[in-house]
Amino acid sequence: MSPSGCREPFVVPFEGGRVRPWATADTEAMVRHADNPRVARFLSMRFPSPYTREDAALWFAFLRAQDDPEGWAIEIDGEAVGGVGFRRGEGEFAHSAELGYWLGEAHWGRGVMTRVVRAVLPVAVRRWGLARVTAYAATVNDGSVRVLEKAGFCREGTLRARAIRDGEVQDQLVFGWVDEARLAEVVAAYR
Ligand SMILES: CC(C)(COP(=O)(O)OP(=O)(O)OC[C@H]1O[C@@H](n2cnc3c(N)ncnc32)[C@H](O)[C@@H]1OP(=O)(O)O)[C@@H](O)C(=O)NCCC(=O)NCCS
Repeated sequence: MSPSGCREPFVVPFEGGRVRPWATADTEAMVRHADNPRVARFLSMRFPSPYTREDAALWFAFLRAQDDPEGWAIEIDGEAVGGVGFRRGEGEFAHSAELGYWLGEAHWGRGVMTRVVRAVLPVAVRRWGLARVTAYAATVNDGSVRVLEKAGFCREGTLRARAIRDGEVQDQLVFGWVDEARLAEVVAAYR
C-alpha cells in the first residue's frame, strides 16, 4: 500500500518484458493477439472468439470497475502481447486465487509464460496474502501444463469433461501451489 492507502499498480518485470495494468491504448494490440481461435481454445468463454475491439472495451471496463484489478497485460518491446490474472476467492476461499494466462501466438515457445508466471506468483501471493493458487489446464494443453510444472505447481488431479468450448469436451488437470507457512498464519488468525 502507498501512504495514501491506495494500492501500488501491479507492475512486475520479467526477463524480456514486464507485466503491468491494461490501458485503453492497448486495444489494437489486444485484438491483434487475442483474435485467434488457437489462443481462445482453452480459455474461458469470457475470452470470446472472434475477439473484437468491443470485447477489448468490455474487458477494460470490467477491470476499471475493480478497485484492485484481477488481470494485467504482458508487455514485450512496449506492446501488450498477452495477459495474466489472478481471480481471488471470497469467504472460505479468501486465502486462494485462480491463475489464468494467455499469450499471442507470435510469442509462443520462447519461455515467456514460464518467466511471467515465475515472476508474478510471489508478487501476487504477497499482495493478497494468498496461501493457495489454483490453475486448470486442459490435459492436451501441453504448453500450459509445462508452464505450471516449471513454476512449481503440483498436479492434483484430473477433472473429466470440466469444460466444453465450441463443442470440444475438455478434460482438465487441476494444479495447486500452496505456501504452507502462509497457510499456518491464516489458520492462526482464526484462533
Ligand atoms: C500455453 C501458453 C501460455 C504457453 O506459453 P509459452 O510462453 O509458449 O510457454 P513456454 O515457452 O514458457 O513453454 C513452457 C514449456 O512448455 C513447452 N511448450 C510450450 N508450448 C508447447 C506446445 N504447444 N506443445 C508442447 N510443449 C509446449 C515448452 O517447450 C516448455 O517446456 P520445456 O522448457 O520443457 O522445453 C501459450 O501457448 C498460450 O498462451 N496458449 C493459448 C492460451 C492458453 O492455452 N492459456 C492457458 C490456459 S490453461
